Amino acid sequence: MEFTTLKTKAFLHHLGIESENPKRLAEFYSKTMKMEIISPDKNTWHCLGPNRLLIFYSGKAQKLSFAAFACNDDNSLSELRERVVREGLELGQFDSAYLKTGAFFVTDPDNNQIAFGVPLSRKSSTDVLRAPLQHLTIQSLDVDRFIEFYQNKLGFAVSDRVINHDGVVTTCFVRSNSEHHSLACFKAKKVGMDHHSYEVTDWNLIRDWCDHFAGLGIKLFWGPGRHGPGNNLFVFIEDCDGNKVELSAELEIITDRKVVDWPHEARTLNLWGKSFMRS
Ligand SMILES: [Fe+2]
Repeated sequence: MEFTTLKTKAFLHHLGIESENPKRLAEFYSKTMKMEIISPDKNTWHCLGPNRLLIFYSGKAQKLSFAAFACNDDNSLSELRERVVREGLELGQFDSAYLKTGAFFVTDPDNNQIAFGVPLSRKSSTDVLRAPLQHLTIQSLDVDRFIEFYQNKLGFAVSDRVINHDGVVTTCFVRSNSEHHSLACFKAKKVGMDHHSYEVTDWNLIRDWCDHFAGLGIKLFWGPGRHGPGNNLFVFIEDCDGNKVELSAELEIITDRKVVDWPHEARTLNLWGKSFMRS
């Protein structure tokens, strides 16, 4: 049977994000998401927390530099590389202080750089507030093209799709392990990042994080609510660059089920109340 990203049980390991003021953005995440800052040079700022890692670079605000996924081990990374080569994708060497030698990247149809590697172990501060980085969502003009690339070329598994009255796919959720999605794509009028999300697992931890945000004077941007696809509880805040940050809990774990198609309507995005429609 063909090797797939799903078989690697890959999870979202870290993100690179550009900013006109990466120092200010790093300081925001340090305070808000309880992360330590390391700055190896004057243009790069690393924010590290328990199972969460972001790297900010000088550049254009809200631009994704890369998303790095961690594979289980060297064997699964090597099998994934072979698949990518068989699919005819161009791959490049991905140098990272957080991944073992051998990591590689591919470029998706919207020019997003997606890397795969095996993580190096690292020490990070202990913290009572759990919030591992869990998924990234992007915006695209063409969700079908996203599906063609991530499902057919890389072997992510489609979990759910959202389809409008005209039969156009407006959102697709794909997984690289048993969690409902580690990546998703919204149809929008522009290409870029939509949000990144941290899976806190438990409703009470959403409360604790929101109390922490309140202490910093940060208001919720959206939520609390519950998404239809994934069935997860959520709240969103915005960082100082306007990037959307989600805290999620109770995300569906998929063992074996068919793809579900949802209608393109507000209720699909938030079973509880108001929605934030991208198209
Ligand atoms: Fe999300």
